[in-house]
Amino acid sequence: MKTRAAVLWGTDQQWQVEEITIDPPRVGEVLVEWKVAGMCHSDEHMVTGDMVPPDEALAMMGIESIFPLIGGHEGAGVVLEVGPGVTSVKPGDHVSASFVPSCGRCRYCSTGRQNLCDNGRGTLGGGMITDGTHRHFVKGDQPVGLLAKLGTFSNHAVVSENSLIKVDDDLPLECVALVSCGVATGWGSAANRAAVGPGDTVIVVGIGGIGINAVQGAKMAGAKHVIAIDPLEFKREKAMEFGATHTFSSMEEAIAPVTELTWGQMADKVIMTPGVLYGDLMELGLGLTGKGGTCVVTAIAPMTQNQAAVNLFQLAMWNKEIKGTIFGSLNPRADIPRLLGMYREGTLMLDELITQRYSLDDINVGYQAMRDGENLRGVIVY
Ligand SMILES: NC(=O)c1ccc[n+]([C@@H]2O[C@H](COP(=O)([O-])OP(=O)(O)OC[C@H]3O[C@@H](n4cnc5c(N)ncnc54)[C@H](O)[C@@H]3O)[C@@H](O)[C@H]2O)c1
Ligand SMILES: [Zn+2]
Ligand SMILES: [Zn+2]
Repeated sequence: MKTRAAVLWGTDQQWQVEEITIDPPRVGEVLVEWKVAGMCHSDEHMVTGDMVPPDEALAMMGIESIFPLIGGHEGAGVVLEVGPGVTSVKPGDHVSASFVPSCGRCRYCSTGRQNLCDNGRGTLGGGMITDGTHRHFVKGDQPVGLLAKLGTFSNHAVVSENSLIKVDDDLPLECVALVSCGVATGWGSAANRAAVGPGDTVIVVGIGGIGINAVQGAKMAGAKHVIAIDPLEFKREKAMEFGATHTFSSMEEAIAPVTELTWGQMADKVIMTPGVLYGDLMELGLGLTGKGGTCVVTAIAPMTQNQAAVNLFQLAMWNKEIKGTIFGSLNPRADIPRLLGMYREGTLMLDELITQRYSLDDINVGYQAMRDGENLRGVIVY
């Protein structure tokens, strides 16, 4: 079949909306019509090159280039067709994307760590999870990859059954799309990975689609203080609407008031969710983390960033910990429906996350708005 997709041909370029051809789904694969795609900052890292594997890494994967690439890993849609052997979804089902697949059988899935599924290997390049070959072609017969093996910036895509999670048909697909990455990652970073508990002081650094949900997660987990830090006033206002108790425009500005607020103890949990995590930001993040505290690193750093400013003396003597997280360290197959259940009951705010809706043709307008800090979250609606 033919469809339209936003394709990236290389770094430092605009997304190009192209007509693509898709082959039918093979064993274990599903043809999905994406209805909504969220505009997460992670796709932007492909544009800037921060998340493009260096040549040596590509050589190890046996791939010459990850371009051309269809973007988009936050999304929701409807199943149109299933390939042989697919049992978890059928045509007509509503599905959430899962930017890390879950096979259910690997060491990580089978020990409750679906966010680390072995199927997530090679997520940035190459062909299908199922057999390594391509189903999507651009400009005739040129193979085109799918970001996170999902390609939600395409109106249709063939993806592995392992990358889809069936959701209730009556849920708004916009909400399902938001939960598929930003909400799960942000909420899970606070409520799960940081293990925020009642009475904690929590700081969230960077209030975008991820950080705003860390604010929600911290509040729901019972934090006493939820302190949101972002240079943009609009983001600080939104943070207050989602449950923050205090806001500051920078980590530097927060040091003195947080010292006073906590009687010198500083934060129990600090969650790092700025657009790009540069190594020097860790010095301030850990400075705001108190004795016995936890600093969760959710934001993505440039792939080759090996240096971070960490005072190793304080790390040991103040008994602190630094924890990375992918997907908020959640189990997408259990937790995406769980989060949507909280939305249904009115405890999780989802509708309020969307600032602006775009057509696929306006994808570059939407990403410029993200760079300019105008959107809490922008979404593409097909
Ligand atoms: N770990 C994961 O599984 C995972 C999943 C999704 C996204 N991410 C990453 O999370 C990060 C945030 O994504 P997003 O979509 O929310 O981005 P976004 O662009 O919507 O929001 C980022 C916010 O950070 C603010 N900011 C930038 N520098 C800051 C600083 N020094 N101090 C305070 N605030 C600062 C910006 O003003 C902006 O409001 C990105 O790096 C993204 O790739 C990680
Ligand atoms: Zn994302
Ligand atoms: Zn697995």
